[in-house]
Amino acid sequence: MRTDTGQVFKLEDYRPSDYLIPKTELTFSLSKEATRVTTVLTIERRKGVDAGTALALDGDELKLVGVSIDGKALGAADYSATPDQLTVFAPPQSFQLTIETEVDPSTNSTLMGLYRSSNVYCTQCEAEGFRRITYFLDRPDILSVYTVRIEADRTEAPLLLSNGNPVQHGNLGEGRHFAVWHDPFPKPSYLFALVAGSLGKVADEFTTLSGRKVELGIYVEHGKEALAGYAMDALKRSMKWDEEKFGREYDLDVFNIVAVSDFNMGAMENKGLNIFNDKYVLADEQTATDADFANIEAIIAHEYFHNWTGNRITCRDWFQLCLKEGLTVYRDHEFSADQRSRPVKRIAEVRTLRAHQFPEDQGPLAHPVRPRRYREINNFYTATVYEKGSEVVRMIRTILGTEVFRAGMDLYFERHDGEAATIDDFLKVFEDVSGRDLSQFALWYHQAGTPNVTVSSSYDQSARAFTLEIEQSLAPTPSESRKRLMHIPLAFGLVGADGKDLPYDGVEGATVENSVIHLRKRHQSVRFTGIAERPVLSLNRGFSAPITLSLEQKPEDLIFLAGNDRDAFSRWQAFNTLLTDALISGFRNILGGKQPEFGEHLQGLAGRIAADTSLEPAFRALALTLPGESDIARDIGKGIDPDAILAARHACASTIAAANEQGFRYLYEELRDSEPFQPDADGAGRRALRNVLLDYLALLPGGADLAASHFDNATNMTDRAAALTVLAQRHSDSAQADKALKHFEKQYSTDALVMDKWFIIQAGVPGPRALETVRALTEHPAFSIGNPNRVRALIGTFAGANQTGFHRADGESYRFFADIVLKVEKRNPQVAARLATAMRSWRSLEPVRQDKARDALVSILKQEKLSADLKDIVERTLA
Ligand code: ARG
Ligand code: ZN
Repeated sequence: MRTDTGQVFKLEDYRPSDYLIPKTELTFSLSKEATRVTTVLTIERRKGVDAGTALALDGDELKLVGVSIDGKALGAADYSATPDQLTVFAPPQSFQLTIETEVDPSTNSTLMGLYRSSNVYCTQCEAEGFRRITYFLDRPDILSVYTVRIEADRTEAPLLLSNGNPVQHGNLGEGRHFAVWHDPFPKPSYLFALVAGSLGKVADEFTTLSGRKVELGIYVEHGKEALAGYAMDALKRSMKWDEEKFGREYDLDVFNIVAVSDFNMGAMENKGLNIFNDKYVLADEQTATDADFANIEAIIAHEYFHNWTGNRITCRDWFQLCLKEGLTVYRDHEFSADQRSRPVKRIAEVRTLRAHQFPEDQGPLAHPVRPRRYREINNFYTATVYEKGSEVVRMIRTILGTEVFRAGMDLYFERHDGEAATIDDFLKVFEDVSGRDLSQFALWYHQAGTPNVTVSSSYDQSARAFTLEIEQSLAPTPSESRKRLMHIPLAFGLVGADGKDLPYDGVEGATVENSVIHLRKRHQSVRFTGIAERPVLSLNRGFSAPITLSLEQKPEDLIFLAGNDRDAFSRWQAFNTLLTDALISGFRNILGGKQPEFGEHLQGLAGRIAADTSLEPAFRALALTLPGESDIARDIGKGIDPDAILAARHACASTIAAANEQGFRYLYEELRDSEPFQPDADGAGRRALRNVLLDYLALLPGGADLAASHFDNATNMTDRAAALTVLAQRHSDSAQADKALKHFEKQYSTDALVMDKWFIIQAGVPGPRALETVRALTEHPAFSIGNPNRVRALIGTFAGANQTGFHRADGESYRFFADIVLKVEKRNPQVAARLATAMRSWRSLEPVRQDKARDALVSILKQEKLSADLKDIVERTLA
């Protein structure tokens, strides 16, 4: 474990490397406990660098066996070596450096560098894992052409894969064999990958736009080949889409994907050899939910799209991470929107952004999309870098328009192909194609925090004028106490009584283009003239800017927008705002010892939306899904008592269910699937709506039996998991819930990905007893502290998605959590640090819980020898 050194890396300290490595030749002699790695580096001193400048290569827990220059072993006076650095004191101007290291994949539990997952050798090098394999200039601006030779036991590892194209393979005798791979595209070390083992293969091919044939392979555990069909289909659709939408063609003869069971993140875009968490590859209707299918499609696309945005054009340094991640998330969002329903996809994106990025931006871990400093880069693979990074790219498109945006992207690929680029380079292409100055806009990359926009409006009948008073503000965030004014693009409509946008003949006080108001000052008074009637304001349509909006709107205006706005996102938003307002006032009533009350307008509207067949079922399902407990908490802001929120939410759902019983039952029956399962948007939408209705109906008399029969009659995992969730959450003490949980466990005991769902469902059951359940489940034979998916399923769900269970008023859950995070850290600091971020909103709790949460965080810091990963998160959370 790499313990914390306290070192802080700063953007302003960036300077190019003194040495370059144009060529890298690696030979792996694989063995479980002692793999030999021979590295031959062709190194050149950069022009202008003084002769005699030392060469310092990065390492991490490495064991050096030998080192030589141009074939001559180095003497003790020529170099120094520690597990984390190899320094050659005065190397020549250009030379070959040969390094031999020995690594032990079998005990590498960090899942960084070379490790073993279910008897397969595999690697993860982003961000700084390559230095756990050999000494190197392990930084993304060192681009090198790699040739990789892998030697292994043929029975143990019949399959030998690396980046690029296969060039040679053969026998070595004594049961060993070898393969050589060559990647012609210079790449940074974080994109290196190797896989060796015995795996099943699904093969296909793709012919590119210019007629080149590419062999596609997806490798999975033997016997699971049939579960990779959907991923393969998604891959081919991604390849086609990138050609059509961005003119980007694939560039090697082969493209391989390997699925492994032990993986720190979702997946990794290694050049020509993507490695995936198997959760994002394996699926069929019996084992995967519709949400799993959608995730697989999105992540397959994401990693494939990295081939251009990430690999062909990479990042100069890790501060520029969003250059590849934000942009690639933007691209996978667009892909999913094209493959499925654009409005539904947008609503889902915004829900995710608010659930994961807003709390980050509004709490102690806030950082800019392009950070200026870090202690541990692994802690910056965040919702801010990824999701907000994608929103920023989306705003560039909103501001420039689709065509100019595409021209900018074309210029980006043309200008920077083969380079390690920066966010400044990225912004510059858009300035160049549009002639606009994006310097104020660039603050979206440089300033942390979610801007708030406050709006009030007035209509002057006699002047036929509609005026908006708009004000922006941005609260201080850690290490940024003073904020500058942002350029905020607000898409809008002035909706008339007939539901159509009203025309206007003039506007003063702001630039308005293509139905977007450009807010650039602290306060702008925007006046529209020639407005025939009092309009209803629809603002931030499509969530054009990632902000919070303070806009007082009358319930009747929100009801009108929910039913009539031509922007589907805004319709959803209007209803969601009504629900949120009702839930917050219910929460306040409960805190004040009163009954919560929910107006009839809500119940009626819910019934109308459910039954409105002019709306897609998926949209109706999203609209009817009440804001989650953490969504409500976020909107309340401070003094959070999760028990009162849960009670308000439960009361609201019960009221809606009771008022719409007949209609909901009718629809529930009508939506019963008649056609065979398809994992497409239509089928998923119908199932989603029916399962939301089930969740409501389960609150009425006979609810447990209804959910139990839903479970028994389910023909796919989406319905089965939904029913089990409803039983576990709504009827946790029932015999029906108990029976279904046992049945599920027995049926799927050998399927790890399905068993994760079993853990997730139980970890999410609200109430104080969840802690006992979760504690007991850590003793379950299927629980494994070394498997990230399992740890996230049980502990991650409990801490991140079970408000009442985790934030128990007695603080017991926090203490349990601190202990388990430390246990996970011993094996895998990265996963532990990620888990610990669940505490980031502790200051918004009411005072009693706040104290207990602080104590638990402090207890972690009291440990000796904390990892850089965990220490960084906990210290920033407490700061
Ligand atoms: N680049 C990968 C992706 O976009 C994420 C890998 C991050 N891994 C890590 N250990 N920090 O999906
Ligand atoms: Zn990515």
